[in-house]
Amino acid sequence: MASQLDRPTNCSWRRPPESLILEKFKVHLWLAQLDLVEPDFNRLEILLDARERERSHRFHYQPHRKWFIARRAILRLLLGQYTGLNPAQLRYDLGPAGKPHLAAHKMDQTITFSISHSQGVALFGFARCRRIGVDLESMRPLTDMEQLVTHVFSSREKDAYFALPTGRRQEAFFRCWTAKEAFLKALGDGLSLGLDHFDILPEPDTRMRLQSVRGDPEAPERWLLDNITPLDGFAAAVAVEKSRFPEPIGRDPIGTIESFIYPVGTLNRVLTESRGTSAQYALNRLLQNPGQASK
Ligand SMILES: CC(C)(COP(=O)(O)OP(=O)(O)OC[C@H]1O[C@@H](n2cnc3c(N)ncnc32)[C@H](O)[C@@H]1OP(=O)(O)O)[C@@H](O)C(=O)NCCC(=O)NCCS
Repeated sequence: MASQLDRPTNCSWRRPPESLILEKFKVHLWLAQLDLVEPDFNRLEILLDARERERSHRFHYQPHRKWFIARRAILRLLLGQYTGLNPAQLRYDLGPAGKPHLAAHKMDQTITFSISHSQGVALFGFARCRRIGVDLESMRPLTDMEQLVTHVFSSREKDAYFALPTGRRQEAFFRCWTAKEAFLKALGDGLSLGLDHFDILPEPDTRMRLQSVRGDPEAPERWLLDNITPLDGFAAAVAVEKSRFPEPIGRDPIGTIESFIYPVGTLNRVLTESRGTSAQYALNRLLQNPGQASK
């Protein structure tokens, strides 16, 4: 069955390289379609910690449970590759508003990450030594879109939105919404900043910019934002602090984003090939060659 990720978009999502290196001035984005073969996906739980397993059992709707296990397994496998640590032994701490981050390990405490998911698709963002947030939304008609704009957008954003012709509003809405969410997710403080305390104008054609943050006039200089076209029917955005490390001369800082497709088919293959054996065996297969899961 052709995956949604096989459909072309205007974004250059690539197969990941042989060895995964995240340089300090770069941002890596990963897009994964979370289709795991049933009934084997449960065995991936061996990668998760007790808190994640307990959470996975709270999903009553099977696809949600499957998508949760898949995205958390992929997150661990990727973090394992970036840090060189055993994915199953990685520990997370939660920020005050629930943002997960890697607990202090002996090695490599510099990786930061953010996850977003929508309708069985996940977007992961990774950076080093700086805050990052990603957001992904399936673009669907919303009957209460104008109400949401009225309640959630800032005055400047509302003015820009209502100045658009009706036919351009949905796309502009999702571009602005995902950019605002990505910025909030990078901050990690939940809604404590207040959605109307910063402006990201909903313009359909230009790159999103953090225009202003009340009480922090320098914020627009410190943050980079971009909209991403993940796949047909989805909108996404990334917000990342400017790197404190020197970037290659002449490069647009946001151009240091590299975007990869995570072929979940590989996870399926490992699970299928190890059918009838233990979960530990399947895990060992993945860990023996962590790169194989992302090739
Ligand atoms: C908690 C929040 C991140 C939920 O976002 P969401 O769009 O429902 O869900 P997403 O799929 O994008 O993100 C979920 C991930 O965010 C992460 N997360 C949780 N709390 C977070 C926080 N405070 N900051 C950053 N990331 C957080 C988790 O990793 C979670 O993944 P998980 O389900 O595997 O644990 C938060 O941003 C929120 O509730 N926002 C309010 C929504 C709103 O009104 N938005 C208006 C935008 S204009």
